[in-house]
Amino acid sequence: MNPKWVGELKVDVSLARELGFNPYYAELEKGLGKPARLAGREVLDLASNNYLGLANDPRVLNAARQALDENGLSLCGTPIATGSNRIYNQLCRSLEQFSGLGRALLYPSCYQANMGLFTALAGKQDVVLVDQFAHASLLQGIASLGCKVMPFLHNDMDHLRKLLSRVGSYRRVLVVSESVFSTRGTICPLAKLHALAEEFGALAVIDDSHGIGVLGNRGRGILEHEEIPSYSGIYTASLGKALAGQGGVVAASCELMEYLGYANAALIYSTALAPPMIGGLLEALRILDSEFPARRARLETNRNQLLASAHRAGLKTVYGRAPIVSILQGSDRATLLLARELLSRGVFSTPFLPPSVPPNKGVVRMIAHAGLTADEMDNACLALEESAKICQENAF
Ligand SMILES: Cc1ncc(COP(=O)(O)O)c(C=O)c1O
Repeated sequence: MNPKWVGELKVDVSLARELGFNPYYAELEKGLGKPARLAGREVLDLASNNYLGLANDPRVLNAARQALDENGLSLCGTPIATGSNRIYNQLCRSLEQFSGLGRALLYPSCYQANMGLFTALAGKQDVVLVDQFAHASLLQGIASLGCKVMPFLHNDMDHLRKLLSRVGSYRRVLVVSESVFSTRGTICPLAKLHALAEEFGALAVIDDSHGIGVLGNRGRGILEHEEIPSYSGIYTASLGKALAGQGGVVAASCELMEYLGYANAALIYSTALAPPMIGGLLEALRILDSEFPARRARLETNRNQLLASAHRAGLKTVYGRAPIVSILQGSDRATLLLARELLSRGVFSTPFLPPSVPPNKGVVRMIAHAGLTADEMDNACLALEESAKICQENAF
């Protein structure tokens, strides 16, 4: 029998019950292929982070199958012990070239990379300055240090400068942010953040999960977008978004990565990325090299059309330049209702409620990925405008 306190561990799902709509753990019948199917009906996917529409590209799937045939499903070991092989190292080298940084290491997920990174870098005697809206994985990794944490106002480099000039005598100083903020679509002014970190002798850490494969002329992410040729900090990114796979990458100078390769428990005590995933990711990177401009153009067109439609419908959006349309709904109820109305019209979106966003700052995030055709976008926009009207008429 469970101890009594287990019965006290409860999540309040009363609102979802009342609305007859719980958007979380939605079960797709198969995958993101077109059409995607959810709860017995076809849906347009504007929820996933499949920015470039590569998740079901036949070339990516074939490469994954080939890697499976040649290398098996798993190496059943950690990278430091038995989990590394030729394609594993090939993906590391490709990501080094892609990021332009000295050395890259692969993690089972970016969440794990972010969570584990900080304990290898800092401790109680140190201070971390972090953007107030940074991702949970960064915040939890930082919190695990038990050190002084100084949040700075979102993307506000004047505030960051002020805090840095007041930091005082800590052993190590880290400045942490996200490139494209996942719930808002705003972009970190990384060139300025990096220059400030260097000026004050701090180490910059940037999570480029929503920038990799999206930002920059060649899709290489925030470092290309912000034109930072000699980034001296740590770079992390999820491989499960535009690159349409799974896993995380951490890249930095060879010296720093040599250390992390032995000192980071999140890497050395966890099973290596599986070979089929590595095969698929290598192919996604190859495709990105040749097809990025066309896919990026489609992503931009879709995003602009969706944004215009949201504004036509009288919806408020967060001002962000990334291909994330983040509709400000405010209350939990209004946020869930817009997502419910969208789904009832065949559009799958992501509602974010606290703690993913501050209280009463609920947003519905829509990502109009590059694989959506002009007709599908027209349907998605029509659904958005109708859904907004229903919400407004009923004063939700
Ligand atoms: C900004 C950001 N960082 C890290 C992660 C975690 O990445 P992963 O899914 O690879 O664990 C996510 C989301 O999933 C994210 O949005």
